[in-house]
Amino acid sequence: MVKPKVYVTRQLFPEAMEILEHHADVEVFEGVDNSIPRALLLSKVRDVDGLLPLLTDKIDTEVMDAGRELKVISNYAVGYNNIDLEAATERGIYVTNTPGILTDTTADCAFALLMAVARRIPEADHHIRAKRWIHAWGPKMFIGSDVHGKTLGILGLGRIGSAIAKRARGFDMRLVYNDVRRREDLERELGVMYKSRDQVLREADYVSLHVPLTPETHHMIGAKELAMMKENAFLINTSRGSVVDEEDLYEALRDGVIAGAGLDVFEEEPLSHDSPLLGLDNVVLTPHIASGSIETRTRMALTAASNLVSVLQGREPLNLVNPGVRKVRPLRT
Ligand code: GLV
Ligand code: GLV
Repeated sequence: MVKPKVYVTRQLFPEAMEILEHHADVEVFEGVDNSIPRALLLSKVRDVDGLLPLLTDKIDTEVMDAGRELKVISNYAVGYNNIDLEAATERGIYVTNTPGILTDTTADCAFALLMAVARRIPEADHHIRAKRWIHAWGPKMFIGSDVHGKTLGILGLGRIGSAIAKRARGFDMRLVYNDVRRREDLERELGVMYKSRDQVLREADYVSLHVPLTPETHHMIGAKELAMMKENAFLINTSRGSVVDEEDLYEALRDGVIAGAGLDVFEEEPLSHDSPLLGLDNVVLTPHIASGSIETRTRMALTAASNLVSVLQGREPLNLVNPGVRKVRPLRT
């Protein structure tokens, strides 16, 4: 039997490559740190049955129309704003993601950013390395803000939002949230209080964003929302950069409208080397690494590989994000 063809846009962990190679003829983009060039993606997708892209690969109608044989797009990410879902569904292409597995790792990172910016850890580290630590101790040296006992506002109480709530409970934080869906079960389980979005922004000492990027959440946090926040509050973003209007955020940070921010995601990635954010001390920046632990990235690769193989074998994948596709092209059972 002829094996199906699969294209992978970056070398993954060997365990995952083995699964793919067992079931398919696999070709992989050879780049190590760089994304696949668009033109190459368009040519490579031409005769493949399955595509395994990264969140940096824009999979739009042009890619899907070049990939006439495509049956499955298995995103190596939980977020799938890089894929035109409606177009995939119309064309009978199954789209899958990697939810659940990266929840705790991402929440760990969000909490690390919160702690780092509150207690000015990177700033203090730079101070020592720059050989500027001259006076042994001072009552006001790098004084930051408490985390314990403060109010954490969670926007988006999904899996990751809930996982950060669990961490915050250990720090005796007061927890408020807003979500498009009220979650009374989680309110009881996690001790979180439902509030309007504006009320969350007004009350919280730390606001952490855990919504997907959609037309509704694009620039959900801009000048108006930042102005509602307390002057001594911090914004943490590990979701998608465009959930925040980055220019407005820069101005708010520069002008002391809010106290600081911990950011893992940006409107454009990589962040421009000219970004004014780089000139601010009250921001901690990481390059979209929230799910980046060896354990989680390996599990994500295994999940992406097995989702892809399932569809190629006519089986229901574990993590289908466009269930409407079943009507357009039913899997053989
Ligand atoms: C990472 O940002 C992901 O969506 O998996
Ligand atoms: C997504 O929200 C996840 O937790 O995987």
